[in-house]
Amino acid sequence: MVNIALIGCTGSIGRQVCEVVRRNPHRFRFSALVCGKNEKALSALAEEFHPETALCAAQAEARLSSLFENADVAFIATGGFSGLAYTLAAARAGKKIALANKESLVCGGELVMREVEERKIDLVPVDSEHSALFQCLGFRRGAPYKKLVLTASGGPFLHFTEEEMKGVTASDALRHPTWNMGAKITIDSATLLNKGYEVLEAKWLYGAEFGQIEAVVHPESIVHSLVYFEDGAAVAQLGYPDMKLPIQLALTYPERLPCEKELDLISLGALHFERLPQEKFPCYGLALEAGKAGGTAPTLLNAAAETAVNAFLRGGITFPQIAETVRETLERVPHVRADSFETLREADMRARAVASGYIYGK
Ligand SMILES: NC(=O)c1ccc[n+]([C@@H]2O[C@H](COP(=O)([O-])OP(=O)(O)OC[C@H]3O[C@@H](n4cnc5c(N)ncnc54)[C@H](OP(=O)(O)O)[C@@H]3O)[C@@H](O)[C@H]2O)c1
Repeated sequence: MVNIALIGCTGSIGRQVCEVVRRNPHRFRFSALVCGKNEKALSALAEEFHPETALCAAQAEARLSSLFENADVAFIATGGFSGLAYTLAAARAGKKIALANKESLVCGGELVMREVEERKIDLVPVDSEHSALFQCLGFRRGAPYKKLVLTASGGPFLHFTEEEMKGVTASDALRHPTWNMGAKITIDSATLLNKGYEVLEAKWLYGAEFGQIEAVVHPESIVHSLVYFEDGAAVAQLGYPDMKLPIQLALTYPERLPCEKELDLISLGALHFERLPQEKFPCYGLALEAGKAGGTAPTLLNAAAETAVNAFLRGGITFPQIAETVRETLERVPHVRADSFETLREADMRARAVASGYIYGK
C-alpha cells in the first residue's frame, strides 16, 4: 500500500490523482489531503478517502515539517509559487516526490535539485512532456541523450495575428484545443509561457543546456515529447491527451498498470509538426531569458505572470498586456542570486507588488 500526501487535491490534477486512487484502492491510499481554500470539496474527499490529515493551505503551511511524516510519496499538485515550499519540505523529509507543480523547478530549481541530489530523492515528473521524456529515457533522469524535443499544441491562438490577439477574451483563452486543465496553466498555454516553463523544467530535471532543448508545435497533442540520441535515433512517447497516465505512472513506475485506451493509429491518420512561432508569443522568450539569467529572475517572471493572468481573467487587462506586465516587471525589479527560499519569497512578493502597480497604474 502506497501512502500519498496530495497537495492541491481539489484542482484539475488533484482530482485526477483521486480518480487514480479510486480505481486502485488496493494499491494507494492518502495519508494527507491539502487544498487551498475549498473546504467543502476537501471535506467531501476526506469523507471518501479517510486520510489521517485533511487541511487547507493556511494550516498546512504552518506544519510543513510534519505534513509528509506518514507519506511514501508527496504528490505536489498545487498551482504557482505556493508549490515550492511543499516540494522543499517533502525533499527535506526524504520522500519520493511526484511533481506536477512546475513552478517548483521554474522558480526554485537550484534549491530543489540541491536537496534532491544531496538526499538522493526520487523526483518523478508528472507534466506530460517531462513524463514522456522520462519514459523515453527508460525512467533514468541521468541517462545520456543528445537533444530533448518538447511538443506544444500551440494553444487556441496559434494562427492568430498579433492584431487579432489584442481582442481575445478570457473565455477564448480558456478554450484549450486539446487539454482540459486549471485556469492558470490554460492561459499560460495560450501565451506559450507554459512552454517556456517546460524548457526550464527540462533543464533542471535532465541537466540539459538550453541549446539541447527545443520546442515544436504538434497540434494533435498525441506525441508528448521526444528524445534524440547521439546516433540519430529519436524516441517518442505517444498517447491521447489525458493526464491520468503520467499521474498513475509517476506512482507506479517502472510498473505499468491499465490506464488509458490504446491509440488507434488508423483513425488518427496523420500527425503534424510545425515551427513554434516565438515572435508572436513573447512570453516564451521572456521565460527563456529569465531562465538563462537564473537567480531570482524566473521567480520575478512567475510572480508577474501570476498577477497578470489573474488580472486578465477578471477582464482587467488585454491578452498582450500579460507579456507587457511580465517584461516590465523583469525590467523594474533587479534579480539577485537565489541562495535561499526566503530570498525567493521576497522576490516573489516584490514582483507581485510591482506587477500590480504596473497593471493598476500606481
Ligand atoms: N492541469 C493539468 O493538466 C496540468 C498539466 C501539467 C502540469 N500542471 C501543473 O500542475 C499544477 C496544478 O495545476 P492544476 O491545473 O491542477 O491547477 P488548479 O486546477 O488551479 O488546482 C490548484 C490546486 O491547488 C490548491 N491550492 C491553491 N493554493 C494552495 C496552497 N497555498 N497550498 C495548497 N494547495 C493550494 C487548490 O485548492 P483550492 O481548490 O482550494 O483553490 C487546488 O486544489 C500547476 O503547477 C500546473 O502548471 C497541470
